[in-house]
Amino acid sequence: MNSLELIEKAKEARKLSYSPYSHFAVGAALLCKDGTVYVGANIENSAYPMCMCAERNALYNAKMHGVKKEDMVALALSADTDEPCSPCGACRQVISELFPKDAPIYMSNLKGDVQETTIKELLPFAFSEDALK
Ligand code: THU
Repeated sequence: MNSLELIEKAKEARKLSYSPYSHFAVGAALLCKDGTVYVGANIENSAYPMCMCAERNALYNAKMHGVKKEDMVALALSADTDEPCSPCGACRQVISELFPKDAPIYMSNLKGDVQETTIKELLPFAFSEDALK
């Protein structure tokens, strides 16, 4: 699967977003080595802090299927933004913990703009398990 196909999966997942409060739907898709794609969309709650982002739902979906970090290949996210949608700070921290440091992250929007990055670029100087030793 190429990057554009993975982004399409993120856009499809976005349609499953439950976002009646922000009306801002986000979709994410995580590609694994065996070709499996795990998706996520943002799921909101009337108790606002309980909202969960698309990227974390995709990562947690993969984890709940036993996927290991080394088997993750790429992550795509998409939303209806002017610029390619960028992961929030909380998602960056979770991506940093669970997703390979150098694997591509495709940020995109519905217009077809795509920006490729990595979690190393998105979250330099990340807090990690190293600090807890
Ligand atoms: N959201 C995501 O799903 N991913 C991000 O990286 C940015 C924000 C969601 C959270 C909330 O449901 C809505 O977008 C508005 O912030």
